[in-house]
Amino acid sequence: MNIVVGVTGGIAAYKAVNVIRGLVLAGHDVHVVATDAALRFVGKPTLEAISRNIVHTDLYEGVAEVRHVAIGQAADLIVIAPATANTIAKLATGLADDLLGNTVLASRAPVVIAPAMHTEMWQHPATVHNIGVLRSRGVTVVGPAVGQLTGADSGPGRLEEPDEIVRAALAVLEPKDLVGRRILVSAGGTREALDPVRYLGNRSSGKQGLALALAAVARGAEVTLVGANLEVQTPASMRVVHVGSTLELAAAVQAAAPDVDVVIMAAAVADYRPESVAEAKIKKEIAGDRLTLELVKNPDILAGLAETRAPGQIIVGFAAETEQDREALLALGRAKIARKGSDLLVLNRVGWTEGFGTDGNTVVVLDRRGDIVMEASGSKQTVADRILDAVVARFA
Ligand code: C5P
Repeated sequence: MNIVVGVTGGIAAYKAVNVIRGLVLAGHDVHVVATDAALRFVGKPTLEAISRNIVHTDLYEGVAEVRHVAIGQAADLIVIAPATANTIAKLATGLADDLLGNTVLASRAPVVIAPAMHTEMWQHPATVHNIGVLRSRGVTVVGPAVGQLTGADSGPGRLEEPDEIVRAALAVLEPKDLVGRRILVSAGGTREALDPVRYLGNRSSGKQGLALALAAVARGAEVTLVGANLEVQTPASMRVVHVGSTLELAAAVQAAAPDVDVVIMAAAVADYRPESVAEAKIKKEIAGDRLTLELVKNPDILAGLAETRAPGQIIVGFAAETEQDREALLALGRAKIARKGSDLLVLNRVGWTEGFGTDGNTVVVLDRRGDIVMEASGSKQTVADRILDAVVARFA
């Protein structure tokens, strides 16, 4: 395959060398388009030696061969690693003021970007918006990882590991293994109303569920996302049903489930809800020094789906546990999958700082016998793809 690797000007540009090397070693013809800023961080001779091709930078070189469109037209895949906030903004707007911008616009090949920047820049509303625009346009976003940044600080914004970028980029070229499959994903956390202004809730952001839904779309599936109080934007590439409480989530999931091949229950669902919801705001002047809430059990949606499913339907449950010991965690997972009757159970550890709302995740996937079928660690996108690999393996 002809792969264009765009290298842009962040300190992580030196790691692009390993991305290029990985793609070359996988047997691909790699053409590097580097921005001027990238060449301040990594030398052209290095990029040329590793890619085994001439590195292109200047929009006004090779004009006779119409290079600003030729490179993009010939590409089967474009990988931009690292992608700076600046390049991401330019791609989102469709700017073509350098060779890389022209190359992307002139190409119809899939585009994969691996962002790298400081956490503040990654989380800036402008970047968040631009990434949303690119995703809705079908761009695959790999990472960023969470970890040590250039300075003393650490957080989301670190370039994903080069091997992972190579894997994710080549996965884009792979046949779409979920074409013709319908997948229902629940995501987010339910909220149980106490009165018109208060609720009992949990810290699930919906990021892992959305990553699963997006990955399934990228692999060709038709996706319905039932989102409970999502803190993330949803793209136009899937049907989204927004819900609030567990009973609403149950109704939405049960309505959609009979028509799908796979149900993935990634939502954090409240096990209990207040027995009654106060008509008006609960007043401390009336409740006094102590307030007792009477809770009743919610239906177990996952167990219900597993019990009533059509033959062949694959059901995936999640288990978020605070247990620290690995063996004890696995034992909890094995007991849970036996209780729930799902085909797979994605087990992860959560805590005050782990799991919820973060950009990374570490999971173990169990099957019904309690065997470990997969373990993955990395960005929620990476983990989503690995979970889908485990689902696809079950179809086979
Ligand atoms: O029992 P626990 O809440 O740990 O189970 C987690 C799994 O079960 C998740 O997949 C979650 O979406 C699902 N669940 C459910 N209905 C509930 C509680 C959890 O479907 N009432």
